Amino acid sequence: MPESRVPRPRRYLVCEPTYFTVRYAINPWMHPDVPVDTGLALIQWRNLVRAYRDHGHTVETVPPVPGLPDMVFAANSALVLDGRVFGSLFHAPERRPESSAYAAWFKAAGHDVYRPESVCEGEGDLVPAGRYILAGTGFRTTPEAHREAQEFFGAPVIGLRLVDPYFYHLDTALCVLDPVDPSAPSAPGREANIAYYPDAFSPGSREVLARLFPDAVLATRRDALALGLNSVSDGRHVFLPPRATDLADRLARRGYVPVPVDLSEFLKAGGGIKCCTQEIRS
Ligand code: ARG
Repeated sequence: MPESRVPRPRRYLVCEPTYFTVRYAINPWMHPDVPVDTGLALIQWRNLVRAYRDHGHTVETVPPVPGLPDMVFAANSALVLDGRVFGSLFHAPERRPESSAYAAWFKAAGHDVYRPESVCEGEGDLVPAGRYILAGTGFRTTPEAHREAQEFFGAPVIGLRLVDPYFYHLDTALCVLDPVDPSAPSAPGREANIAYYPDAFSPGSREVLARLFPDAVLATRRDALALGLNSVSDGRHVFLPPRATDLADRLARRGYVPVPVDLSEFLKAGGGIKCCTQEIRS
């Protein structure tokens, strides 16, 4: 009998894909010669925003900037915990101007923004999971940025090494379904409920995940390649791509309610649902 999961209303920051396209290739999904249908991307993105709002979540938008086609991937711009904003410094020169555009939005919304000195791509690689911040490295965010994040938030940062270029950000290989209340007594496997694709990680990092999250939902390569792990959960509803069918079944068996949202056009840039969504945690 699956447990009954309780949703918690969230505040999300997104950016309309007005200027979304694939003009450069900074991950193996991107092929500038394959045409992108920006009109279709816009329709798919609006469906995502509608799904969030229909489930009771607040969605705010940052204005898109011409010439920054990846700005739609709001997750990469920052990690926000307790209203404190740890900004970004992109690996690719093409994406570097996005950091200031998002920092301007956060400042106007009344937040100070810490600008990291080392390459750090926000929630793409920094994923809060209960008491820990899980932190990806290997392709984008550096171990130095992990140390900066630990110092800034005063929370233990657990570094995880990504090894498969198709899963270049941590949020393409792992998602948090439900962070456990930080005031709950500590016990292994009680930090958070997560799902991940083990082969995206180095052997040592895989062992760390198995130790910390023995009850995790494991995803297949097929579902991972549909960017099934690039999902957003409110604790009950999991917004995920319709092609991640095995993952949807596994989540349903654990009491989650899969909500399919198709962002196929964004896959051409290596992005999915979570990439398009920054969570503002206050
Ligand atoms: N084209 C973008 C890049 O390679 C996609 C970013 C996806 N974002 C994410 N949070 N995984 O940087």
